[in-house]
Amino acid sequence: MRYRYPRIPESEVTPRALFESRRRFLRHGAALGMAAALPGLAWSPSASAWRDGLQASLAADLPSVSLANGEPLTSLRDITTYNNFYEFGTGKRDPETFAHRLVTDPWSLTIEGEVDKAGTFALEDVLKHQDLEERIYRLRCVEAWSKVVPWIGFPLAALLKRHEPTSRARYVVFESIHDPDNLRGQRRSIIEWPYREALRIDEAMHPLTLLAVGLYGEVLPNQSGAPIRLVVPWKYGFKSIKSIVRIALVEERPTPSWVAQNPAEYGFYANVNPQVDHPRWSQARERRIGESGRRQTLMFNGYGEQVASLYAGMDLSEHY
Ligand code: MTE
Repeated sequence: MRYRYPRIPESEVTPRALFESRRRFLRHGAALGMAAALPGLAWSPSASAWRDGLQASLAADLPSVSLANGEPLTSLRDITTYNNFYEFGTGKRDPETFAHRLVTDPWSLTIEGEVDKAGTFALEDVLKHQDLEERIYRLRCVEAWSKVVPWIGFPLAALLKRHEPTSRARYVVFESIHDPDNLRGQRRSIIEWPYREALRIDEAMHPLTLLAVGLYGEVLPNQSGAPIRLVVPWKYGFKSIKSIVRIALVEERPTPSWVAQNPAEYGFYANVNPQVDHPRWSQARERRIGESGRRQTLMFNGYGEQVASLYAGMDLSEHY
C-alpha cells in the first residue's frame, strides 16, 4: 500500500504560545470542554458509510493540540510501514503487506456492560453524533514505542459519557476484531484472540485518552488500526488497541491479552516508566524511528504533568 507524503499546512503548526496555553488547558482537564468553540463536521447526509463522511471532515480545519514536546513528526511512510498488528503476523512489515484484508466497511461498535445505554451501533452513527463531531481534534503526540504521530480523534470520555456509565463501572475493556478468514495471524495462537486491552475508568476518562479515526488528514490506514483505535500517550504502545469492535464497562479488573499471555512480563498499567525494567530489557532508553541513537525515556512518556495525579500514592514498581 502506498501513501503520498503529507505536506503539513501552516494551519497545522501550532504556535508556541497557543501550544503552551493548550497544555495548561489540558492540565486542568478542560479538553473535554473544547466543544463549544469548535466548528461542526461536514457530514454528507447521503453518506452511506463512515468513510465518506469522515474523509470530508478530516479535510476541515480542525482544532489542533500539539503535545509532541518539540519533536518532529514521523513521516507517514514510517508510521505505516513499521507496525505491530499481530492479527497480520508478528513481522513489522506484515501489517503493511496484509492489512488490505481487513474489512472495515461496514463496521459496528458494541458498547455494553455497566452503562445505562448499551447497544451495537454502525460506526457512522457513532461518529455522526453531535457530541463527537464537536470534539474531534488533532493531537500530535509521541507514541510510546518509536513514533511521533499526528492523530485525529476525539476523547474516549466523550463516547463513554454518552452511554452513561453506572456507578459500578470501574474498568473499561476493549476488544479488536476477530476474523481469522481475513486476518492470517489469528489462525495461530500468537496471543489470546480477540486482542483485548483494558484501562481503569479514570484513565479512560482522561482527556488525553483518544479514540483515533485518522492521521495526517486521512482516514486511518488499515495497518494503523482502522477504522477506530485507542491512543494512550503515556503508556507503552501495546495498550493502544487497534480496530476496536467492542467496549465494555465492567466492575472487576479485566485481564488484557498481553497480561494473560505473560503476567511476569506485562502489567495491567503499562505506564512508561524508565525506572522499572522489563524482565528482559532495560526501559531507560529508547530509539525513535528515523534516528540512529537512543534517547532517555521520559516518565509517563513525557506526559507526567498531565497524568501523574492518576497514580498518586501508588507504588509504580509494584503496579507496572
Ligand atoms: N492492537 C491489535 N488489535 N493488535 C496488535 O497486535 N499491537 C499493539 C498495539 N495495538 C496490537 C494492537 C502494539 S504491541 C503496539 S507497539 C502498537 O499497537 C503499535 O501501533 P502502530 O503499529 O500504529 O505503531
